[in-house]
Amino acid sequence: MDTETAFFETPPQLVAVGQPLSRVDGRAKVTGAAKYSAEYNHLPGLVHAVVKTSDVAKGRVTSIDASAAQREPGVLAILTHQNLPKPAKTAETKEGQEAIGMAVQMTFMPLQSDQVFYAGQPVAIVVADTLEHAQHAAAKLRVTVTPEAPVASYQDPKAKLFNPGGKPDADAEGTKRRGKAAAAFAAAPAQVTATYTHATNHHNPMEPSATIAHWEAADRLTVYDATQGVSWQQRALSGYLGLPQDQVRVITKYLGGGFGCKGPIWPHSVLTVLTAKAVGRPVKLVLTRPQMFTSVGHREDQEQTLRLGATKEGKLLALLHEKTSTTSQWDDYAESNSKMMGMLYQCPAFEATTKLARANVMTPTWMRAPGEAPGSFALESSMDDLAYQLGIDPVQIRLRNYADKDPSTGKPWSSKSLKECYERGAELFGWSKRNPKNGLTRDGKYLVGWGMATATYPVNNSQGNARVRLYADGHAVVQVAATDLGTGTYTVITQVAADCLGLAPDKVRFELGDSVLPTTNISGGSMGAGTFASSVYTAAQDLWQKLTKMAVMDAKSPLFRAKPADVAVVKGRLQLKANPSKGEEFAALMKRGNMTDVEGFGQGKYGAGYETGLATGPAKSDDAGKEDGGGHAMHAFGAHFCEVRVDPELGTIRVTKWVSVVAGGRILNPKTARSQVIGGATMGIGAALMEQTVRDPNLARYTNANLADYHVPVNADIPDLTVEFIDEHDPYVNALGVKGIGEIAIVGTAAAVGNAIFHATGRRLRDLPMTPNKVLAAMSQPV
Ligand code: MOS
Repeated sequence: MDTETAFFETPPQLVAVGQPLSRVDGRAKVTGAAKYSAEYNHLPGLVHAVVKTSDVAKGRVTSIDASAAQREPGVLAILTHQNLPKPAKTAETKEGQEAIGMAVQMTFMPLQSDQVFYAGQPVAIVVADTLEHAQHAAAKLRVTVTPEAPVASYQDPKAKLFNPGGKPDADAEGTKRRGKAAAAFAAAPAQVTATYTHATNHHNPMEPSATIAHWEAADRLTVYDATQGVSWQQRALSGYLGLPQDQVRVITKYLGGGFGCKGPIWPHSVLTVLTAKAVGRPVKLVLTRPQMFTSVGHREDQEQTLRLGATKEGKLLALLHEKTSTTSQWDDYAESNSKMMGMLYQCPAFEATTKLARANVMTPTWMRAPGEAPGSFALESSMDDLAYQLGIDPVQIRLRNYADKDPSTGKPWSSKSLKECYERGAELFGWSKRNPKNGLTRDGKYLVGWGMATATYPVNNSQGNARVRLYADGHAVVQVAATDLGTGTYTVITQVAADCLGLAPDKVRFELGDSVLPTTNISGGSMGAGTFASSVYTAAQDLWQKLTKMAVMDAKSPLFRAKPADVAVVKGRLQLKANPSKGEEFAALMKRGNMTDVEGFGQGKYGAGYETGLATGPAKSDDAGKEDGGGHAMHAFGAHFCEVRVDPELGTIRVTKWVSVVAGGRILNPKTARSQVIGGATMGIGAALMEQTVRDPNLARYTNANLADYHVPVNADIPDLTVEFIDEHDPYVNALGVKGIGEIAIVGTAAAVGNAIFHATGRRLRDLPMTPNKVLAAMSQPV
């Protein structure tokens, strides 16, 4: 049946899609009706758990004195490695990993032995009737950890660097390459060599991670968990517990952000489930803000050395990248910075090497465009250096290296509108008025500078299921076990479903966030919108086929005895392609047939690049593919333009003007999409200018694990950001041509800021975040 063509080759049928619909969940959120994972307080006998953590980063638990804590009112249990029930399996074994799935980022499970590997590691769980009782008793509990000297980071003299062979960033030797990069660099007439560092960063969503575990029977569990993926969490917990998947239900109706830290499965969720088992009551655990810094991963502290070789005309000849970063004692996690370096510009020779050091930290994880964000800071800063060295305009040098095919695979792009992004961004910003010389523009005491950078992010298509149920009275329920991070998933999928069914959006209810719904992937890797929209579309096709079969067999239908292939679906109506006046509405057909409802089920169809993650073993990094089955490379692209004002006496930097232009395929909703790009650019500016977690080099403990000392941008830090989208139609990425825009605006942002600082001051800052002390240090040096 040819409904796919019918729906997509006639764009006017997209009525709701593309409209700036306000959030369908907005009212629930502002009235407080939206229930977050920690708010299921109605459960009978709900009790509260508090985690006691180790201040020591390395050592052994040598004594536990629970006598005082035990006597406190309301205390129900004090659980340590000595008495906490053991999970059936852990991800520490290969067999466990297969049962638990790839979503476990940290394979180590605390509270299984007396060993302490990182500061903030749970050493006890105190359960009481109220939160306050649990907190108080936890304060009275004495757990002694006898310390040993920890390794704090890759910079620690005790750290041993190793090459994570075979991991995503690397081949068996820990290296990715094409051509002879070292020789090409050595022979290049223009060269840029520079080292960039990136501080440890933490996600800091407004909503802390929280888990409520409710054993409804000895072998039946419901978990309310702040997770980006209920299907992943269900699979993982069932693996840990040795239970069939259908006996574990995970519910996440609303999320207050995640930025990657709620993507993987972390120990606190498993520990809460085990605690609930031990006490025989539903248990709630909400991580404290300081615990958010040691429980759900972070962006790893890292150093990148990048060498660019080019012709005098600025055409790249060689690109060599080396990355060194800190990881945990068990997991070889490294975000893949070189993925974007290998594909962004035409360059015949490329080599990337990754090195890791094991430290006494927990496992780092996906955070806000993992890989692309720090990678683009290095690449786009060095491209700016090359532009100045050769006296070429920064936009021009990027156009000279424009890749018409993906240089890392040789494949054609499914679509690429980067030139349009540069052009439109430059126009909106007024780039043509730029003074080509740096350090010359002043406004009073401020030095003013302009910079730009390229953005890109892969289209991480994924598979997932959806169910669409249409009622004869003209409303519909659409179901996917998706999650909405707060970015608009509820809204955009409602729009897609409305158009599939020929209904107004307010006649469609989109249900998500429950693992009993059709299984899907996480909201992460910028793949939610494309994945969920495509699976809803596929489910709608199934529905259309059922209705068409009903119509052609129904003697009373105008389509009686028509060939299904001759029938098209147009705005909730079945009609003959050759004679559109001959047909009928879905509702008329259903009513005549006495059907109250019809259901369609679908699995989104995508390219071969990405495995669902529900079926594969553990991954140590984001291994999403970027190729469809038809041999296309699939990426979103964009361009950022930035103006800064630098106070040369105080070293303060303010972003005073900003333009982001993004080409991300079909934009399902320009209002929520614009908000996502504003959010992305804001996160990028945060990483550029303020975000850093400081790990004490001797104690390997964070010194600023709170929102007073870990600075995230607030309204006063961010100017009015100008955001535009390029109208882009991509026939390959997925059924709706959606590329995903969750992360692209983070990419290149820090470089655009740094390039503007260089233009303002003549000083290049290569150490993130670019704080006032670093500006002053640079200003004290000769240019
Ligand atoms: Mo994102 S860092 O893929 O949740």
